[in-house]
Amino acid sequence: MLTREHFDVILAGGDLIDGSGSSRFVADVGILGDHVAAIGDLSDASADERLDVSGKVVAPGFIDAHTHDDRLLFADPAMKPKSSQGVTTVIVGNCGVSLAPFSAPGRPKPPLDLIFGLDPVRFPTFSGFLDAVDRQPAATNAAFLIGHQTVRVREVVDLNRPAEYDEILAMRSHVAEAMEAGAIGLSTGLFYPPARAATTDEVVALTEVAAAAGGLYATHLRDEGAKLLDSVKEALEIGRRTNAPVVLSHHKASGVANHGKVKESLPLIREARKSQKVALDVYPYIASSTVLLSERVADSSKVLITWSEPMPEAAGRDLAELAMEYQQSPIAMVSRLQPAGAIYFSMAEDDVREVISFEDVMIGSDGIPHDEKPHPRLWGTFPRILGYYVREVGLFSLEEAVRRMTSLPASVFGLKDRGCIREGAYADITIFNPETIIDSANFDSPTQPAEGILAVMTNGTFIWRNGKPTGARPGRALRLRDQVMPKN
Ligand code: ZN
Ligand code: CU
Repeated sequence: MLTREHFDVILAGGDLIDGSGSSRFVADVGILGDHVAAIGDLSDASADERLDVSGKVVAPGFIDAHTHDDRLLFADPAMKPKSSQGVTTVIVGNCGVSLAPFSAPGRPKPPLDLIFGLDPVRFPTFSGFLDAVDRQPAATNAAFLIGHQTVRVREVVDLNRPAEYDEILAMRSHVAEAMEAGAIGLSTGLFYPPARAATTDEVVALTEVAAAAGGLYATHLRDEGAKLLDSVKEALEIGRRTNAPVVLSHHKASGVANHGKVKESLPLIREARKSQKVALDVYPYIASSTVLLSERVADSSKVLITWSEPMPEAAGRDLAELAMEYQQSPIAMVSRLQPAGAIYFSMAEDDVREVISFEDVMIGSDGIPHDEKPHPRLWGTFPRILGYYVREVGLFSLEEAVRRMTSLPASVFGLKDRGCIREGAYADITIFNPETIIDSANFDSPTQPAEGILAVMTNGTFIWRNGKPTGARPGRALRLRDQVMPKN
């Protein structure tokens, strides 16, 4: 007699959306240890736990392509803003800001202060950072970019000029150390004051090091407004000169005068993709969020304060109202609130839909987890795409949406055996109700878990169930050398 097959968990009778983009089909999924061991009719098999998921979608765990969760991995290892959305892997270190390598205590220059706490937790080397994640894992997996702004603030004496030769060498050695430790690439935030003076050549000099180790180049463009097209061209040039795959972060056209520009940037990207590797990500909102910057206030129809060190009570308030209350101009109010963060209503809904509809766009929340009153994208991005833009607006199929959240980012970031449900893949899985999934977080109440996410599993262990974290921390630090897919 055959021994009965036995699994740790069987997810029974769900609609399987495997991440490839192909149509859903009903199947049982058997999980053993950290991987998917069988897919099909497992009604004769036994399991420690058999979970009836009929009528629900079983999908690969979502990969958040753009996050600032570097320190959240330690500050909230349950990763509630992400696990509650079905996210099982986060890409950290974006916009040129990474937690490592950095050793100075106290509040670093904006925008580094978006992720650095005032606590003395500092990682002077990238390997020290990744080792700490190994020792204190979180609920989700993470893959890591090294940030140009972080190394620039550390090594460049005068940030208002291009880096000098020895400073470039020092920054290159940090990038080399990070790549050796397992970073998946370099990120820049050329829009931000600490990086603005960097020339294209300076960025090329650093990206070369990342590319030589197999890494990619992810960028918050120099200008997402009037010079959007020039900025896209600069990023593409950096990719061409270094042979690095390019990831254009949170693609948008910012400022009312620039609305509609994505209709020009997207064809430019589409054309470049014929001859070089280019990817992009988007979050599904018409407002952006970062540190409080007066130049961003000028091109926004409304500004909400997300945190303020001198005036904590301002978090959640409208800048214009505060300015009236204090009988000051909005710009004077901005200096009074500093250091601070803000949400800027600066995009057009048509543009947002245009970018979400681009054939190979990844979904990245760009959530800022340590803000007092954060942008709702932190808790709402993935369910908002699935519930609002897919179910309600009907931009594309659910299978296609899942592909953009799973196998697509896994292939862009080189995450081996993730982003798909097939035998042998890691059991990163999210189970949701396609009829009810929707974001709950909004600009008034930005930290509400989404509806319709039933259970989430990382590496075969449940991290979110019955509307709350399970307390398990099965996440891993995903290092490039372990991840790169065999080139064939
Ligand atoms: Zn950014
Ligand atoms: Cu960002």
